[in-house]
Amino acid sequence: MARTAALCFDMYGTLCDTSTVTRRLGEVLGVSGILANAVDELWRRKQLQYSYQAAQMEAYEPFWKLTTRALDYALAQYGLDPTATERERIVEAYDHLSPFPDAAAVLERLGDAGYTVAVLSNGNPAMLERLAANAGLAPHLDEIVSADDVGTFKPSPAVYENAARRLGAEIEACRLVSANAWDVAGAGNAGMGVAWINRRRDPPEAIGPTPEVEVTSLARLPDALDDVDG
Ligand code: LAC
Repeated sequence: MARTAALCFDMYGTLCDTSTVTRRLGEVLGVSGILANAVDELWRRKQLQYSYQAAQMEAYEPFWKLTTRALDYALAQYGLDPTATERERIVEAYDHLSPFPDAAAVLERLGDAGYTVAVLSNGNPAMLERLAANAGLAPHLDEIVSADDVGTFKPSPAVYENAARRLGAEIEACRLVSANAWDVAGAGNAGMGVAWINRRRDPPEAIGPTPEVEVTSLARLPDALDDVDG
């Protein structure tokens, strides 16, 4: 494995916590925490499914649009029918996700250590830029690379290959950092290095290469990278 030149961080669920939308759902819908949790869980699952499905169907739509469609599905499944304005208020929670503790400090430390530090996400550029600014991450990022560049979604190899091109590095010298096991498997499959933030101590995906770096929090990442790159 080449020494890592560029680190590509997944955004949703890795740098920022998607579970923070649950509160917004509860407030706007006026429902219990339990129901808000259930809607949120289905929303996230459908959002992922729609991204895989749109890629396979070759029917790309920006991630914000798919996120809106996934919310519509989750609301319908639970018999909820908020107004268009209320739906917008719910989706806008994606602009205000909380960063995981240490996210900004870790990005800064890795930038100081000489890595190119980027986001590589399925989110479309406008939504990524808004979130990076609101979450205080933008000052610590050299680049924000979106799957939108190539009109498909991770885990398609084209998305990881495009990131390497954008960052001016060989794909083997780029490393995806993601809490999403499917993303880690996809990057490894495309020939990119990986670091898996395995907060829930899940088993690795049973397809794709085994991740060579695995830690339980972002805070542990710099030391783990020292071990492989130092
Ligand atoms: C991302 C989501 C899908 O690409 O985790 O940021």
